[in-house]
Amino acid sequence: MELRLARIRIKDAAAFCRCINDQEIMTKTFDEAFDLPFSEQDAAEYIRRCRKDKESPEFSILIDDRFVGSISLDRSESDDKSYEIGYFVDRDHWGKGIASKAIVKALDYGFRRMNAEKITGEVFLDNPASVKVLIKAGFTFSHKSPPKKVGQPENIHYIITKEQYLKQVSG
Ligand SMILES: CC(C)(COP(=O)(O)OP(=O)(O)OC[C@H]1O[C@@H](n2cnc3c(N)ncnc32)[C@H](O)[C@@H]1OP(=O)(O)O)[C@@H](O)C(=O)NCCC(=O)NCCS
Repeated sequence: MELRLARIRIKDAAAFCRCINDQEIMTKTFDEAFDLPFSEQDAAEYIRRCRKDKESPEFSILIDDRFVGSISLDRSESDDKSYEIGYFVDRDHWGKGIASKAIVKALDYGFRRMNAEKITGEVFLDNPASVKVLIKAGFTFSHKSPPKKVGQPENIHYIITKEQYLKQVSG
């Protein structure tokens, strides 16, 4: 089983669309940013926009070249050395270590290829699987923030710096 990241591809639109229409993925990853149902055409348009964006890459997580999820690094508007990581895995593949492996690859890309100084992650308080994958990848707790919308849980913020990452990978 080969897991790799590749710039999100138009040919991943159908699989991406299926994930976005998963209410849990949509809510936890995109904070209700898309109207559902989300069509394959919507997905293709979104992917086209992502591919033009050179500052904030969005990757397909591929296993043996098949789309199983997505992971992104969004550049901060106020600090061009700071990125926020976002990710989801198709629910058919949950619990197989895919997010854990993909995050390590995204950190490597961010710190070594994009020269990021810090990468942050924001997780709803009721998302222990996501907290777990961030901590396993070396992120540490930064702070909590109140819900952005009525009825949502609090947010927990995590962070890893380039220095911490390089120390971690050098053993
Ligand atoms: C969060 C998510 C990306 C995890 O993907 P995944 O590929 O299943 O993650 P992994 O298999 O690499 O690791 C999950 C870890 O969480 C643990 N876990 C899963 N459910 C858990 C729970 N309810 N409580 C505590 N830990 C849990 C698993 O045991 C595993 O830890 P381990 O490797 O030490 O056993 C996936 O569930 C998902 O896409 N969720 C919906 C979207 C989302 O939440 N995105 C993140 C937004 S911040």
